[in-house]
Amino acid sequence: MSEKEKKHISGFSKLSKMGKLRWVAENFFRDPEAVFKELRSYWHEDEQQQKVLDSISENTLSNFPMPFGVAPNFLINDRMYTVPMVIEESSVVAAASAAAKYWMTRGGFKAEVLSTRKEGQVHFLWQGDFSKLKKLFPEIKVQLINRTSQITANMQARGGGVLSMQLLDFSDQEPHYRQLRVQFETCDSMGANFINTVLEEMAQGLEAFAKNYPDLQGAERDLQIIMAILSNYTPDCLVRASVSSPIEKLGPLKNGVSAEALAQKFYTAVRIAQIDPYRAATHNKGIFNGIDAVVLATGNDFRAVEACGHAYAARDGRYRSLSSCSVEDGVFTFELEIPLALGTVGGLTKLHPLAKRSLEMLGNPSATELMEIVASVGLAQNFAAVRSLVTTGIQYGHMRMHLNNILLELGANEEQEKAAFEHFKDKVVSYSAVRAFLNAWNEKSDNI
Ligand code: MEV
Repeated sequence: MSEKEKKHISGFSKLSKMGKLRWVAENFFRDPEAVFKELRSYWHEDEQQQKVLDSISENTLSNFPMPFGVAPNFLINDRMYTVPMVIEESSVVAAASAAAKYWMTRGGFKAEVLSTRKEGQVHFLWQGDFSKLKKLFPEIKVQLINRTSQITANMQARGGGVLSMQLLDFSDQEPHYRQLRVQFETCDSMGANFINTVLEEMAQGLEAFAKNYPDLQGAERDLQIIMAILSNYTPDCLVRASVSSPIEKLGPLKNGVSAEALAQKFYTAVRIAQIDPYRAATHNKGIFNGIDAVVLATGNDFRAVEACGHAYAARDGRYRSLSSCSVEDGVFTFELEIPLALGTVGGLTKLHPLAKRSLEMLGNPSATELMEIVASVGLAQNFAAVRSLVTTGIQYGHMRMHLNNILLELGANEEQEKAAFEHFKDKVVSYSAVRAFLNAWNEKSDNI
C-alpha cells in the first residue's frame, strides 16, 4: 500500500472515538502505542464530562489542554473582578494583572455599553422591477415579522427580537444583487442561532411573497435567494472602556522614566498605531491578547469577536488602532472603543464546564456587563504592552517567561532554574544561550 493510500480513509466519522484515535496513532506516528496512550491520558476521568466536551466538536480524539489563568484586581465601574483568561502565550496574563493593579490605585476602569444591536442579511438576486418590490416593502416587512413571530416570541418576552429591516440595492456592483438587512436585539445571548433561524425563515417568507402576491404575478422567477446569515460585523454592538489619571500620578515608573515622558511617548505610540496599518495590526493584536483570552474562557466565539474588531478598525477605509489616547490639561486618558458581540447564556457559555465557572467567577454577569469587562481587559492589555514598549522594551518582561519556557523544554531542575534566572538577570535570553549555560553548569557540577 502506498503512503498516500495508507493515510486516506472513508467513513472516518463513523468510527468510534477509540477507533479514530487508533487510526490516527497508527498512520501518522512512529510510536503508535505511546501516542495512543498519551492522547488517551488527556481524556476526562469523568465519562459524563468527557461526553460534554466531545459534543462540542467533531472527530474528537482527545482534549487539548490550555492554561486557564486569572488576572485579579480588575476594578471596573467601582466593582472588583478576578478575570479568567485562557491563552497559550506567556506574559499576557502577567501583563493584564500588572495593568489591573496599576489602574486599581488610580480609579480603575470606566466602561460603558453604547449599543447592543446585531445584524443579519438575506442576500438575493431580483431580476424584476425593483421599484415594485421597494413599494411593497412595508407590506413585505409585516409579512416577514408575522411569519417569524413564533421563533421570536421567547426573545421578545426577554426584551429582544427583530428591531428593524431595510431593503438595499447593490445592483450597481453586482447585477440584480439586493439585500434584506435586519437588526436584532438578542439580550444576554450572542444570538447567532437565533438570528440565523429568523433570517432563513425570512428568506422563505420573501419567496412566498414573490410567489403569492397578486401584484407580483410570476415574480418567483425573478427572485433567487443566495444566502441568509448573520453578519459578524456589529458596529452597533459597541462598548467603550477608559482609564484616566493626572500625569503626575502616573509614576513611579521603571528605569527612571518620568511620568511626563511616559505620557508623551505613550500618546505618540498610540498615534503611530492610528496612522500606520503595519503598527496598528500589532497594536490591535495586543488588545486581542486580552480580549480573546476572556472571550475564550467564557465560552464565547473569539473568531467572531476578532473578525468584527478588525473590520471596525478599518471602518473609515484605513486600518487603524482600536484604542486612542489623549494628554490634555495635565490629564492622561486612554480609551478603547470596540464592538463585542458576546453572550452569557446559550451556546458554550453554560455547556463548557469551565466557561460556566468563568462566568460564575465574574459574578454571572449580563452580556452587557461582560462586554464592559472584556473591553477593560483589552484596554489593560494594550496599556501594559505599550507602556513596556515605550519604557523598558517588550523583551524585558517577556524574557523571564521565555527563559522559564526554555528551561522547561530543556528539562532543567530546580537548582539549575535558580542559577539560570540569576545568570540571565541582565543578559539576553536565547535558546542557544540557555543551552550553553546549562551545559557549562553541568560540566562545573561534574568537576566538583
Ligand atoms: C505580543 O503578543 C503583543 C505586542 O506585540 C503588542 C504590541 O506591540 O502592542 C507586545
